[in-house]
Formats: sequence, C-alpha cells, structure tokens
Amino acid sequence: MPALRDILNHYILKSVVTFEMVELSLENRKTWFTQFSENGRYQLFVAEEGGEVVGYAASLRFHQRPAYAPSVMSSIYLHPNHTGKGIGEKIYTELIENMKTAKDVHRIYGLVVLPNPGSERLHEKLGFQVAGELNEGGYKFGKYHDVRMYEHRLGR
Ligand SMILES: CC(C)(COP(=O)(O)OP(=O)(O)OC[C@H]1O[C@@H](n2cnc3c(N)ncnc32)[C@H](O)[C@@H]1OP(=O)(O)O)[C@@H](O)C(=O)NCCC(=O)NCCS
Repeated sequence: MPALRDILNHYILKSVVTFEMVELSLENRKTWFTQFSENGRYQLFVAEEGGEVVGYAASLRFHQRPAYAPSVMSSIYLHPNHTGKGIGEKIYTELIENMKTAKDVHRIYGLVVLPNPGSERLHEKLGFQVAGELNEGGYKFGKYHDVRMYEHRLGR
C-alpha cells in the first residue's frame, strides 16, 4: 500500500495525468483498498517486478448515481521507472478480462487527460473506443486541460 501511495503521489504532484491535487496518505489508501473484491465490480491488479510493486490497474465506481452502477471507471499508474516496457498492457488486459467475467459490469470508462500518448495508445490497443471529449474539463497547475473519455463495451 505504501508503494501504491508513492506511485500515485508522484503523478499527483508532478503531472496532470491525474486530476487528484493533494498528496494521499497511507490511511486514505487503506480506505480506498476496502472497495475491492475478487469477483465484484471493483477489482485491483498490482504489478510486481523482482518483488517490488511497480504499478496497478483498478476498476472503480464511475458515478455516484445508482443507475451508473454497471459502468466502472478504470485507473492505471506505473512507477515512472517502469513505463514503456509492456507492464501497462499486461495489467490493463488482466483488468479488462476480469471485468468481462465480473458480475454486472457492462462498460469500462477510461478518462485520459490530453495529451498522454502512452495512455491513448494503450486504450486504443486494448479495444476502447473514443466516447467523447471534455473541452477544458479540468483545471490543474494554472491551466485548463481537455479530457478524452474512452469506452470499452466488453462485448456485451
Ligand atoms: C500509461 C501507462 C499505464 C502505459 O503503460 P506502459 O507499460 O507504459 O505501456 P506499454 O509498454 O504496455 O505500451 C502499450 C502501448 O502503448 C505504447 N506506448 C507506451 N508509452 C508510450 C509513449 N510514451 N508514447 C507513445 N506510445 C507509447 C507502446 O508502444 C504500446 O503500443 P504498441 O504495442 O503499439 O507499440 C504508463 O505509461 C503510465 O503509468 N504512465 C503514467 C501514468 C498515466 O499516465 N496513467 C494513465 C492515466 S489515464
């Protein structure tokens, strides 16, 4: 959990790839972890290399209104020293495959702050289609940022 916290905190403080703005505590991550289960809508896959945690992919609640429940939002972050070597594709594929067999999951939405060539390519490669773009949908580090919404229909 400390490793996952540190990976996300790196991107929170140094980039706009996540719209989180404030560093997350270990307590925050421990609470976050309680939403996951092995076969439910919300699942977490952690990548390890040489016994070291190097990233994660997760499905999360997409929206608080209850009719959105069959849609999940995806999240993927790798340690900056471990990007670009196929780990993202491996754990995102694992997440998607598990969403296909999870009960009551119909759509996966990935929100990508533009530009993010690695994430854009990953979504396109793994069967997501562009569902739309939010023009200047977020504000971080003194600037507005466009957000692309990717949708995976899970073959259903
Ligand atoms: C985005 C991310 C999860 C991708 O995972 P990754 O392990 O780096 O990507 P992979 O090595 O599995 O590559 C998957 C595909 O994307 C391409 N790709 C990866 N990084 C790229 C980059 N910076 N620019 C262009 N293409 C890139 C790869 O070439 C591959 O496509 P190909 O098979 O057609 O060549 C990872 O880079 C990351 O954690 N980035 C920082 C955090 C982030 O942006 N998270 C997503 C928020 S929406």
